[in-house]
Amino acid sequence: MSTGPNDPCHCGSGKKYKKCHMRADMDGTPRVQAPQATVRRDPLILNETEREQMRAACRFNAQLMDQVREIIKPGITTQDIDDFVSQYTLSHGHTCATLGYRGYTRNCCTSINDIVCHGIPSDKVVLKEGDIVNVDLTTIVDGFFGDQSETFFVGEVSEAAVRLTQCSFDGMWDAIDALTPSCRVIEIGRAIKKRASRDGFSVVEVFQGHGIGRKFHQSPAIPHFPDRYHGTAVLRPGMCFTIEPMINEGTKNCWVSKEDGWTSFTSDGKLSAQFEHTILMTEAGPEVMTLTKHGPQKGHKFKSPANVA
Ligand code: MF3
Ligand code: CO
Ligand code: CO
Repeated sequence: MSTGPNDPCHCGSGKKYKKCHMRADMDGTPRVQAPQATVRRDPLILNETEREQMRAACRFNAQLMDQVREIIKPGITTQDIDDFVSQYTLSHGHTCATLGYRGYTRNCCTSINDIVCHGIPSDKVVLKEGDIVNVDLTTIVDGFFGDQSETFFVGEVSEAAVRLTQCSFDGMWDAIDALTPSCRVIEIGRAIKKRASRDGFSVVEVFQGHGIGRKFHQSPAIPHFPDRYHGTAVLRPGMCFTIEPMINEGTKNCWVSKEDGWTSFTSDGKLSAQFEHTILMTEAGPEVMTLTKHGPQKGHKFKSPANVA
């Protein structure tokens, strides 16, 4: 039975229905306020404040890379690199992300020659003329992570080492150039695979790039080969991620040291090279957040020795 105009209103006010909720009920206004829908923000999509925080973190990380580059020379140990990274980072009030990360005990990764990634700095590893060494730096600034790596020449290196290093660098930039707002992750792997095949090298599959922000590693996974599974993910404006192709001279296969649980080597003992940048997808396209002032810029042509024009 419905309420008549002169009946007491259903709301319990004691007024006649026509003086109370009748009009509201007729025009569809709900009698009871519907619970407010909870608006959840996608944590992978950074707002402008968070983008600024990522810029600051990545700017510091790149500044550290510019400093590290200066100390690379024959005779220093990879522990010397680690000590420098720690001292510089702490003295600026920031944090090295790898220290204590899943049991890792150093402040950066230093991967020489046939080490694909996650080489552990040691006072027993001395850089020698002809080595290539990748230094991978990740720091935390006000809760946000910046992550990048470069492969350096130690004095004069082989022609093969130069070509491999160039391929990893060019592959990374080809991938960056392939990015457009809301493109698919697979575009990255396509670009890198194309470059590596053209140069006669292989692309490591077991280690990938990753989303990054308030966490070191998060979604999406960024394979450096055209992976049909992870490749369908979409890179929306506001997402931050790394591109960090490991390119091998021979086989793409790797093995991880049973002794330390980290160091990853090429299965055939041939060389591996890598570069890494942290990138923000914006409404206008990719923004490379870890650009250095003095390191190799897009289009750089590597030569050996490094200081010869
Ligand atoms: N910096 C590496 C990356 O690019 C991760 C190193 S994790 C560590 O994702 F524990 F090995 F340091
Ligand atoms: Co990374
Ligand atoms: Co890294």
